[in-house]
Amino acid sequence: MNWVKFVVLLALLLVPLIDCAKLIEVTPVSGNAEERRFPEWFKFGAATAAYQIEGGWNEDGRGASVWDTLTHDYPELVVNRDNGDVAADSYHRFREDIKALQEVGFNFYRFSISWARILPEGDLSSLKQAGIDYYNKLIDALIEAGIEPVVTMVHYDLPQYVQNLGGLASPLFVKYFKIYANTLFRNYGDRVKMWITHNEPFDFCVEGYGSGIDGPLVRASGVGEYLCGHYTLLSHAAAYHLYDQRYRKEQGGSIGITLSGRFFFPASNETVPSVIDRALQYQLGWFTHPLFSESGGYPPIMIEDIADHSLLEGRTMSRLPEMSERERKLIKGSADFLGYNYYSSRLVERDPREYDIGSPPSLDKDAGLIYSVKPSWKRAKSSWLYVVPEGLRGILNWFKEEYNNPLVFITENGFSDDGQLEDHDRVEYYRAHLEQLLGAILDDECSVMGFTAWSIIDNFEWLRGYSEKFGLYHVNYSSPTRERTPKLSSKFIHEVIQSRQVPSNVISRG
Ligand code: BGC
Repeated sequence: MNWVKFVVLLALLLVPLIDCAKLIEVTPVSGNAEERRFPEWFKFGAATAAYQIEGGWNEDGRGASVWDTLTHDYPELVVNRDNGDVAADSYHRFREDIKALQEVGFNFYRFSISWARILPEGDLSSLKQAGIDYYNKLIDALIEAGIEPVVTMVHYDLPQYVQNLGGLASPLFVKYFKIYANTLFRNYGDRVKMWITHNEPFDFCVEGYGSGIDGPLVRASGVGEYLCGHYTLLSHAAAYHLYDQRYRKEQGGSIGITLSGRFFFPASNETVPSVIDRALQYQLGWFTHPLFSESGGYPPIMIEDIADHSLLEGRTMSRLPEMSERERKLIKGSADFLGYNYYSSRLVERDPREYDIGSPPSLDKDAGLIYSVKPSWKRAKSSWLYVVPEGLRGILNWFKEEYNNPLVFITENGFSDDGQLEDHDRVEYYRAHLEQLLGAILDDECSVMGFTAWSIIDNFEWLRGYSEKFGLYHVNYSSPTRERTPKLSSKFIHEVIQSRQVPSNVISRG
């Protein structure tokens, strides 16, 4: 790019940020500011997911995903009967998303690929070149803009065809996923160096294959979620080993998985540390123990409880699938980093009641815990999102202690509201979480490589439709052109990235 073009572009990029700048006054960090900086190698980015932003749901041969089925066949399940048919129209407007990412100054963009857009029937017999081309254009434009592409392979939106074959509750899934992963490495691996196989298995397994309240609406509580977890882990490991064997040497990238889970604090003085550990094992440990512990395999506490409960229920096998020696070895260590989404924490205590065989089994019943919140914790628009920044530092330290300081990549963190441009609460959420993160890196020496804001733009918030907004940019959903407008929080994150510091206070001039 020549200098004139560069200056014009820079001026264009700065214009939208100027308005916000008037609204915010940042107090620099206290203490020795020089020492309280994000290290040079630390990267900042923002995330989205295909179904939540792309639209173009039936264009260019794209097949249905489980979320098309849910929103079209059961519209009453989603707030305002919203769907992702058009969403933020990023299928046509991805360059506007890139412009927003550039304005904030992000180093990378975590987006997901719609499997149904490139292999609508799961495997190569259904390959759609137009789908392949779309992501090529997106990846090339990102690189051109100096933004590193970070790809999530599946973010909740399995092809409906793969779901019809049993989806993640079937062993067949592992084979299909390997074919899909291979297609991605082959087509994009020359430019994509960070791969995330799955996003938040705890969430999509428990709600998608257990209680069945979320896509793909499979109701098999107490059984389905554990099968889903099992084949998630095995398919992840299959993609990892495929990368290792066929692509790593030539492409030189990294491959991990994104997990979700809260941190837990004792509900009262009577809550003993083993209860906190139990809560952590039943949420994160379900996946982190097989992948990152020395021994591998499911957390012993889950193996024991679920076998006991299954026996009480008159079963001849545990509802938690047995992990063979071969599988344990395949999964153990099969991640170059631990992708982690942090939003909130809970108080926890042991449920004093005896295990009740009279009601349907579930992960919740197996765990036998009661969760609550502190009255002082502020809540976002989302009913589940209580603001607990210290939980982020807590969980990062837990990873460090439990798994010998693995490399953690924070792949999501964010706050929901009504979508206002002057999003002061989101600014404070990010300020407080980034401060805790800096403490975890600098003081506790937790190994964290990057931070990802959810999300760059307002998008389809699953069952909540467009009623809860997480974007750093507002999207005008009443306009066919879906204009993106920066919010105050985008300016705040811009300043953090520029200064590599977290202000100790943010005063809004409203
Ligand atoms: C998911 C996103 C979602 C966000 C806010 C994360 O659990 O990965 O898809 O929009 O939380 O609920």
